[in-house]
Order: sequence, then C-alpha cells, then structure tokens
Amino acid sequence: MSVKEKVQRFLRELQEEGAARPAGDVRQHEPMSRHTTMKAGGNADLLVVPHDVEELRRIVLAAHRSGLPLIVLGGSNVIVQDGGITGVVVKLSRVNRIRMIGSHRIEAEAGVLLPRLARAAARAGLSGLEFAIGIPGTVGGSIVMNAGTREGELAPRIDSVTLMRPDGELVILEREALHFRYRHAELPQGCVVSARFDLKPSPAVEIEAAMKRMLDARSSTQPLHSPSAGCVFKNPPGDSAGRLIEAAGLKGCRIGDAQVSDRHANFIINRGRAQTRDILALIRHVGRQVERRFGVTLELEVKIVGRAARPKESRPSKLRVRSHSSPAQVLGAS
Ligand code: EPU
Repeated sequence: MSVKEKVQRFLRELQEEGAARPAGDVRQHEPMSRHTTMKAGGNADLLVVPHDVEELRRIVLAAHRSGLPLIVLGGSNVIVQDGGITGVVVKLSRVNRIRMIGSHRIEAEAGVLLPRLARAAARAGLSGLEFAIGIPGTVGGSIVMNAGTREGELAPRIDSVTLMRPDGELVILEREALHFRYRHAELPQGCVVSARFDLKPSPAVEIEAAMKRMLDARSSTQPLHSPSAGCVFKNPPGDSAGRLIEAAGLKGCRIGDAQVSDRHANFIINRGRAQTRDILALIRHVGRQVERRFGVTLELEVKIVGRAARPKESRPSKLRVRSHSSPAQVLGAS
C-alpha cells in the first residue's frame, strides 16, 4: 500500500460508523513550523489532535491498522526536517488534565505544559517541581527526555507513568522500570498518556519565591523571545556546552536564518525563515569546532525527526561568522 492509500485507510478507521466526526481534529499536509517552538520544518502527512485518552486510543489503533508510523510531538526540544514527517503526528495539547491524588501526589496527562504543572503543585503547597517552571515542554515529552535544569530533573519526582501501547492497551510503569539517566529514559514502544508525581509538602510562598528566582535567572541568560528548540546539546560531564561554544567564538555565527544565540551559545535561534537544513548545518559546524578546539564531542539534546528535503526543494545557505570587531563575514558554503 502506498502512503496515500494508508492515509485514506487511516481516515476511514478514525471515522466510526454513524459518528458525526472523526476521533480528534485531523489536518492533512500540516506544516510543522506551526507546531514546533523552533518554527521550522516540513509538512506532516497528518496531524491529529485528540480531545481525550479514548480518542487517542482510536488514533493509535487506526495508525497501527493502516500501517502508518505515529509519533507524538509536544513541539519543544525537537527539530523537524524540511522534507516533513511520514505518517501521523499526534499533538496532545487537549489531553491536559491535572488532578490531586491524596495529599502529596499529582497526576498530569501527557499534554500538560510543565509550567502549568509547576504552578498547580505550588498552589497545592507541594515542592519538587519548581525547576519545571521555565521548561516549555509537555509532561509526555519531558518524561521521554527526563527534562531538567541545573536545579533538578523530572525522574526523582516520578512515581509512575501510564503508557499506551501501539495496540491501544494501557500499561502502568513504575519509575524504576524506566531507567532514567541524564536527559534519557527507557520507555517501551508506545506513547505516554499520563504520569503521577510524588511531591513534598512545603509552604506555597517558598515554592513561589524559588520559581520566581529561576524564571528571572532564565530570562536574563536565555533567548526566550526568539524561536528555538531549547538547549541544542547535552552538557558534557563537568562542563557546559554553552560555555564551550562561546569559548570557541561561535556566538552570533549564522547559516541562513539559523543563528547561534548571542545570549546563550547552546541555543540556536530562528531569525525568521530558517530552513532545517541550515539549522542542522550550523549544529554540525558548532560540533566540529568545539571538537577541534577542545577535543570534546558534544551530544545532541534536541531530537531530530522527519526526512530531509530532496536537494532541489531547498537551497543551502552560506556560513557567516561574526567577530566582535567586524561585521558578519561570509566564509563559504556549509
Ligand atoms: N555559559 C557561557 N556562555 C553561554 C552560556 C553559558 O559561558 O553562552 C556558562 C555560564 O556562564 C555558566 C555555565 O556556562 O557558568 C552554565 O550555564 P547555565 O547556568 O546557563 O546552564 P546550562 O548548563 O547552559 C542548563 C540546562 C538548561 C537550563 C539551565 C538552567 C542543559 C543542556 N541545559 O543550561 O536547559 O535551562 O541549565 O538551569 O542541561 C534545555 O534543556 O533546553 C535547557 C535550556
């Protein structure tokens, strides 16, 4: 079956007999630049936004039966290639309920944004998720990534995670089963539906003061007003990728509309209409320069998804390196 035929089968599967509308809002050929914090990337064959877990189950089953790959994307920490994504992209922005369980546990669905979860915990007088206030990701994506900052990471706060397998079954996984490491978790195939967090009672004013401190620090050191995918590289043990990239003289370095941020060197910002091929060429350039200067191999933190555009669909841009004493220089093709 061709992708086109699989898409038709998927759409038929989503439309239950007699139902007025399919499970979830469905869009075809949807530009991923509209759904990523980097604001770049080609079209997804299908983008589906379920209203609840039952609709998610129907979407997962329809993809499974029609043989289309399915990926859940929150939109942050991800770079979508210019050729777009084959199959189904699921956006869980509406699967976003939060509920208290007993006195010190919170359950959040996968589409809940971390700052909202951090604020809900603060209001309930529960400490442990303060660091999440400045992370623009969803609960689902943040579990897959074990998202965190210098102040903490998700893993120690997680009690259990509910995952939907490709056959639609829900399984509950305890924290130990996920083998969390720095920016990494080991999850079986499927998508995160919700998670339970185990937190510690603490005065709300103290939690809020800590969150304010972290937000202030973040806005004074990170380029929060430009589109980006967050930190591009993981920190190498005992060092900071941002420090190394700045020390290699790469702040402000540009390829097309992709630029190493002047504010924090581990961010690549989209100055307007960056193509992913330029963003990736800049990432490779930064990695090579840091390796050459300091012998450190930087590992990617952002996830790259989708397929590269065919050469005739996109045009490579020139690398521009800016020194502080002279205007941008064009050094040559990437
Ligand atoms: N630094 C530089 N130049 C730069 C950036 C940083 O010299 O351009 C130096 C700073 O002066 C500081 C050190 O590097 O001495 C560390 O910088 P920072 O405190 O900004 O933290 P980071 O290690 O660069 C980590 C997380 C961020 C998180 C911050 C704040 C990673 C890869 N990054 O950054 O997370 O917001 O701590 O807690 O773990 C993300 O994951 O997307 C992200 C941005």
